[in-house]
Amino acid sequence: MTAYALPEATRLRLETLVDQIEAAPGRLIEMAEIEDITDPNGVLQSLPDGISEDDFIGILKLAMLTECATDVYAYEITSRARQYDAGWLERFNENVWKPDEYTHAEPFKRILMGLGFDEAELDREMVETQQREFEHYGGDTPVHVSTFGMIQEYLTDHWHGLISNLLKPTLPQAARMTARIKQRETMHTVWYRDFTAIQVEANPAFINDVAMQLAHFKLPGNSLVPHLQPHAERWLPLMGADMNRVVRELSRLLLSTVGTPDRFGKMVFDMADWKGVAFGPLKPHHFDLAMRRFGDWGYGLVGEAILERTGLDYLYKRLDAPGSHGPVARARATLRTWLAKQIPLSLVTS
Ligand SMILES: [Fe+2]
Ligand SMILES: [Fe+2]
Repeated sequence: MTAYALPEATRLRLETLVDQIEAAPGRLIEMAEIEDITDPNGVLQSLPDGISEDDFIGILKLAMLTECATDVYAYEITSRARQYDAGWLERFNENVWKPDEYTHAEPFKRILMGLGFDEAELDREMVETQQREFEHYGGDTPVHVSTFGMIQEYLTDHWHGLISNLLKPTLPQAARMTARIKQRETMHTVWYRDFTAIQVEANPAFINDVAMQLAHFKLPGNSLVPHLQPHAERWLPLMGADMNRVVRELSRLLLSTVGTPDRFGKMVFDMADWKGVAFGPLKPHHFDLAMRRFGDWGYGLVGEAILERTGLDYLYKRLDAPGSHGPVARARATLRTWLAKQIPLSLVTS
């Protein structure tokens, strides 16, 4: 693990970014704007194929219960920010993120109440979740925390989008409220991406920490909502999730975090190494020296091949310098496409 230290100029940049976010956090969801939900069409009687009543309730409850534990997450983030003297992260977490997240469970509670659930019973389930032990997987530095935040917020954003689509035909009002929460999660994803990108730009060795956090990532629901989170994998396709799209969007997010295809390639190799994946008899770190010696033909080519594999080749093609179309460039492109076919998608997805 890289020792965590930032140049003063980078620390100031992060503090300034948090100043800007604090000054213009966008439109937070106010408690007063959250509406009661009625269910005149009997949503449970017209669920999409494959989704049972229990599944539907479980999907809404998983959203409510993971959203209700704001204080649990906020405590974990602030204590790590203090440990590393990252005032910017503490300020973001306490002044922006926490008040923003406080209202996210309520819409799901209102939807469940609209479907006939008792408020006291839902409150009891939330208190039970808030009292569970949260288990953090991965590292503790601000780079680990912002990487975790970026991935977790992206996946929550995606999850809320699927719920909103599910609700749209029968409970349009509930779908709109869910879409409002989704918008907030998109902002959180972008802010955490920017925090991570600024740190990596200051110290590219942090790419290994980003990779470590990706390799260890687990959604908080695994420890806080253990009776529902394991069902999410089965629910995702039923809700219309396109996992290739998720991989593509995550890869794009990570490319914009690390900046260049060669750093992206290094990050995926490091991630494979943290996961203990072997390529034939070799572990990923055995390739490191060779990759570095090949320069642009090393991690750069691997990074581009992974992007090609996930359907993002247009991102590096845009970066191609003019005049890079000679025989060498053609050979490189052929090798890249061959390499892309060898890369199992699971390297990027699991
Ligand atoms: Fe949220
Ligand atoms: Fe969020």
